[in-house]
Amino acid sequence: MGYHEVYEQAQAQPDQFWLEKARLIEWSRGPERGVDTDVEGNDRWFSDGTLNTCFNALDRHVRDGRAEQVAIYYDSPVTGTREAISYGDLLDRVGRAAGGLAKLGVGRGDRVVLYMPMVPEAVITMLACARLGAVHSVVFGGFAAAELAVRLSDAAPKVLVTATCGVETNRTVEYLPIVDAALTICSVDAPHLVVLERPEHPMDPERRNSALLWEPEMTSAEPLACTEVAATDPLYILYTSGTTGKPKGVVRDNGGHAVALAWSMSAVYDVSPGEVFWAASDIGWVVGHSYIVYAPLLAGCTTVLYEGKPVKTPDAGAFWRVVSDYRVSVLFAAPTAFRAIRKEDPDGGHFSNYDLGCLRALFLAGERLDPPTLHWLEELTGLPVIDHWWQTETGWAIASNPLGLESFPTKPGSATRPLPGFQVEILDPGGNSLPPGEQGSVVVKRPLPPACLPTLWGDQERFESSYFSAFPGYYQTGDGGYIDDEGYLFIMGRTDDVINVAGHRLSTGEMEEIIADHVAVAECAVIGVEDALKGQLPLGFVVLKDGVDLPDEALEAELVAMVRSTLGPVACFNRVLVATRLPKTRSGKILRGTMRKIADGQSWSTPATIEDPAALDEVAALLQPGN
Ligand code: COA
Ligand code: AMP
Repeated sequence: MGYHEVYEQAQAQPDQFWLEKARLIEWSRGPERGVDTDVEGNDRWFSDGTLNTCFNALDRHVRDGRAEQVAIYYDSPVTGTREAISYGDLLDRVGRAAGGLAKLGVGRGDRVVLYMPMVPEAVITMLACARLGAVHSVVFGGFAAAELAVRLSDAAPKVLVTATCGVETNRTVEYLPIVDAALTICSVDAPHLVVLERPEHPMDPERRNSALLWEPEMTSAEPLACTEVAATDPLYILYTSGTTGKPKGVVRDNGGHAVALAWSMSAVYDVSPGEVFWAASDIGWVVGHSYIVYAPLLAGCTTVLYEGKPVKTPDAGAFWRVVSDYRVSVLFAAPTAFRAIRKEDPDGGHFSNYDLGCLRALFLAGERLDPPTLHWLEELTGLPVIDHWWQTETGWAIASNPLGLESFPTKPGSATRPLPGFQVEILDPGGNSLPPGEQGSVVVKRPLPPACLPTLWGDQERFESSYFSAFPGYYQTGDGGYIDDEGYLFIMGRTDDVINVAGHRLSTGEMEEIIADHVAVAECAVIGVEDALKGQLPLGFVVLKDGVDLPDEALEAELVAMVRSTLGPVACFNRVLVATRLPKTRSGKILRGTMRKIADGQSWSTPATIEDPAALDEVAALLQPGN
């Protein structure tokens, strides 16, 4: 069956379509219901089904003969470590970790926060939570203490699992001072703290004596069996940037998630059980949750856990080395990673040093795949290079070239077609459907397919206002774009204050909240400007309070340090311009969109509602090279 037939089936009879896909999963009680609405009016999949996600990711594969197959290749060039963990071994380690968590009082529905680097123990903890019916929430290691604290306060976990350090190319990041600071400022009771001691950063002996160490806490308990949970029970919360300082706690359920992810492995990525699939992301992001951990294991594949970078660990051949060493069939990464590789190895010298006959396709996401990077990769590899579009909220791709259903010719700049289950439309501000070629808000008609967020953790009101209030009956993606007359979808960028820096989703509103706290700052604006390597970079504009006498460079250094210590190094907030005023509308709204166009060298016009047109010229002057 080709793409169009499958798409139409999913659209015409969603319940029947997804109940059939639900057979890819082993249920404790098989669902008979497709999508329902719950008491709050939210769409819920398979509400009468029960299962355990960890059972589907591990136990059933071991039972069915995959005990010896490698489940995880851990490859860490930054520590010089490699490990092949079989399904049988992983099951044992996850069972013990579940036992360890249970001893600390974790049970069904309890939260466990992870602040961990890319090590097997992080994946083991995630799966152990799933085994217990507990809810994990992974916080990316590049976030600072205040970010961790906000997430701890919101999730109120029973246990926080961390490590002594993460290892970056230029430094070892000590986690315990960050964790200690976060625990001091968070507004909930301190959870049990479990620490993985890494040889790269041993613990202070005194602290070690009183700490709960990963070894033996998570390794010595008797393995625990799986807890049966409702399909609608939360599997995890993953916080993502919204337009304000408070991140959104995207909730993922168990049943819909398992079904959609298992199906995506064949339908989207065209990968079969036993094959090696590598998502070169981080478990702190949704791509890591879905395609390093859950989907490959649900599908009985081998996944790669890579603790390194595309370049400098040790060189721009790192990705090709990993693909070759582990015979990877499909590689999934962010465009920025390939831009970094291309910058260091434009002629692809490293590529030709490896035997890459195993590799069948490359998938890219996290940001738009820019045509130069697409062409470079196509020419270098001679393989299908697929741009696919998705979000933390959806958990899997909304649009892709679905290689397992049908392979379409690629159009540069397009994520190809909406996947079955996603009824994508383009609307104007009044909610009217736009014809092919016209750009507007990209929305998805309800119900969203399985795996998409059923709510935001503890914030139903924000769930409704963020996603469903602008266009009733539709999920608002926050992206703008258009569909061409052949049905190809082009995503052109966010329509809100969210930016994408090196494939990392960040909020400019949050950066504004941080720098506005500086005593010298009267008002400020942060915009995302184009960057050849990282896609976008934040740029701050500040207006000083009267009487402030501080050199611009000193102020910039202080503001940069504030964002780094509050939000984290991952923000890449490195540049601030001091303005005498900000361009605003007569009603006081800062014209960030026009400022962005000026900064990106795009054509721009003066909005009719502007208070003083000269303010935009001042921005243009400030952006001249040399400032
Ligand atoms: N823990 C602690 N710090 C981290 C971190 C982590 N997990 N990840 C990044 N950082 C730090 C970096 O060390 C860097 O710090 P610095 O300012 O002291 O140098 C800062 O955050 C910015 O990191 P990054 O934007 O990643 O820059 P980089 O120069 O280290 O690497 C790339 C550039 C392009 C190689 C890298 O961004 C990359 O591989 N991006 C792909 C991202 C991705 O996979 N996203 C998932 C979406 S699919
Ligand atoms: P995240 O929730 O971190 O996955 O970020 C989601 C956002 O990243 C989307 O809303 C888009 O703005 C952007 N994005 C992700 N993938 C793509 C893509 N293939 N093309 C264009 N934008 C993308």
